[in-house]
Amino acid sequence: MHTQARTGLAPVALVCGLLSAASTMAAAESGDIDAGLKVATERCAECHDITSRNPMSTASGIPTFYVVANTAGISRISLLVWMQTSHPKMPNLMIEPEDLDNLIAYILSLKDK
Ligand code: HEC
Repeated sequence: MHTQARTGLAPVALVCGLLSAASTMAAAESGDIDAGLKVATERCAECHDITSRNPMSTASGIPTFYVVANTAGISRISLLVWMQTSHPKMPNLMIEPEDLDNLIAYILSLKDK
């Protein structure tokens, strides 16, 4: 009986880990779009056109956030992955996790319905 209870702990810990990951994701769903626009203005607007519906930021070949949002397959997850890896042509972006949630909420809000 005793040994069974002890060996049972590992799977429970694993499930807890998954659940807390899942609830972090769920919390991320509720990012604040207005706060995200503010972060984008401060951190991204230097290079990206973050509001217009043009396909490219002026003359630079950098995609606007509108284009990013409407790229096939774009999602909270793919944006998170993008934001957390480094890119040759973009500076490494050090963004606080809650800013990141808001930022992604903002970008996804540009998606055509
Ligand atoms: C110093 C200029 C610069 C800044 C600041 C910048 N970016 Fe970028 N970004 C780029 C360039 C250049 C590309 C195109 C990269 C490439 O093609 O490899 C890009 C591409 C992207 C893409 C991918 C678009 C696609 O479809 O491939 C995303 C998403 C993105 N940026 C998000 C952001 C966010 C969010 C911020 C602000 C937190 C930001 N960028 C700040 C220069 C910048």
